[in-house]
Amino acid sequence: MPPIARTSNQSSLQVNAATEAWTSQSWRLRTVQQSPSYPDAAALESTLAELRQLPPLVTSWEILSLKQQFAEAQEGRRFILQGGDCAESFVDCTSEIIANRLKVLLQMSLVLVHGLRQPVVRVGRFAGQYAKPRSAEMETREGASLPSYRGDIVNGPAFDLATRTPDPRRLLKAHARSAMTMNFVRALIDGGFADLHHPEYWKLDWVGHSPLSDEYRRMVAAIGDSVRFMETISGESLHNLNRADFYTAHEALLLPYEEALTRRVPRQHGWFNLSTHFPWIGMRTAALDGAHVEYLRGVRNPIGLKVGPAMTADALLRLLDVLSPDHEPGRIALIHRFGAARIGELLPPLIEALHREGRRVLWISDPMHGNTESTSNGYKTRPFAAIRSELEQAFEIHAAHASRLGGVHLELTGENVTECTGGARELTETDLERAYHSTVDPRLNYEQSLEIAMLIVRKRNAVQAAEV
Ligand code: PEP
Ligand code: CO
Repeated sequence: MPPIARTSNQSSLQVNAATEAWTSQSWRLRTVQQSPSYPDAAALESTLAELRQLPPLVTSWEILSLKQQFAEAQEGRRFILQGGDCAESFVDCTSEIIANRLKVLLQMSLVLVHGLRQPVVRVGRFAGQYAKPRSAEMETREGASLPSYRGDIVNGPAFDLATRTPDPRRLLKAHARSAMTMNFVRALIDGGFADLHHPEYWKLDWVGHSPLSDEYRRMVAAIGDSVRFMETISGESLHNLNRADFYTAHEALLLPYEEALTRRVPRQHGWFNLSTHFPWIGMRTAALDGAHVEYLRGVRNPIGLKVGPAMTADALLRLLDVLSPDHEPGRIALIHRFGAARIGELLPPLIEALHREGRRVLWISDPMHGNTESTSNGYKTRPFAAIRSELEQAFEIHAAHASRLGGVHLELTGENVTECTGGARELTETDLERAYHSTVDPRLNYEQSLEIAMLIVRKRNAVQAAEV
């Protein structure tokens, strides 16, 4: 097996990404950004050999069904709700945290289905979101330097040498935790957790009185009335209402792990990444001739590509040529994250360039990652007003350029955290001290998430009403 290239002079090979033969290992010959240094290469390889024998986490038919739903969302017939933690952690793999996250996503999707009058595709940032890109290789505290924390699949957050040293056994643990998460989510859904006859199951215990929950309760009551009305006039119960599909997504960052879960499937051509339905390429690893683009071009999953301020129209078009040479509908989701201050300047040229080239994609707004800032008391936060503004601008800009925003990508949790400022309860910088738990980026709490769902409905409907 070829060793993994880590240096950046590999690009001098001038590899032509579109024409070289792809294998599940061809990425190893490219520059690998964000790659951890495992001290024991033999231990890494034997762990990967073990991982290659373990069963996958998702199936090819689920992946192809999600791709089909993306194709419909691209045409405006569905809306994508993608959300979850910035970074999952092993200790948060508990029934309560998983169920609460599911509850928030279900409640948000109910608001969206009801308000948009459209099917909503639910995609969790979970069951594998364990690897994080970092801006620096090393972290220094009080004169001591250690490898940066790269997510629980690589090392641990505690600042000591043993915890920060990349450990291959964590790959197996991440696979197992992802499988447990998947298993629990599937069991909850199969057991009627998502049953529209019983949305009261989705109530979060800690949510007290709030104007938003009143609005939400009124909506649930209205849906309940409609369901009972339909059942009365049809004389039978509406069975499909007790099911909701859930798909998973994570950043395909740690390529040795992704490769080990990349498989062929009987009666299907090509290769699938069976660690998740929807892998995406992060902003820091989107180099055209880099390892991540090379790896993802060869799998049949729908692929997400984060699009940040540094992306030029030309670079984007070349990436699409490599990642989607056949223009297959549903193949590409462009997840743009410019920040509220810059989206107005940066998004229109990209939309126009894609129009000129006849490229159709699914556009998703990530209003989180371009709006991160540090407070004077040392917290990484995101002001709700900026998140809201970027999202509202995204709807307007797409509409003004004969395009369409087909979904949102959010960092959120069902826990009562105080990580983003603002929102209905007007959290301030001093509130952040109360319940700041994220190991990486600040997340929306339940109430802020529900508020986002309601504002999506208002904005999308206003933009559509202005079009007709
Ligand atoms: C993320 O989604 O957590 C992330 C790191 O995003 P980006 O690649 O857009 O910075
Ligand atoms: Co993040």
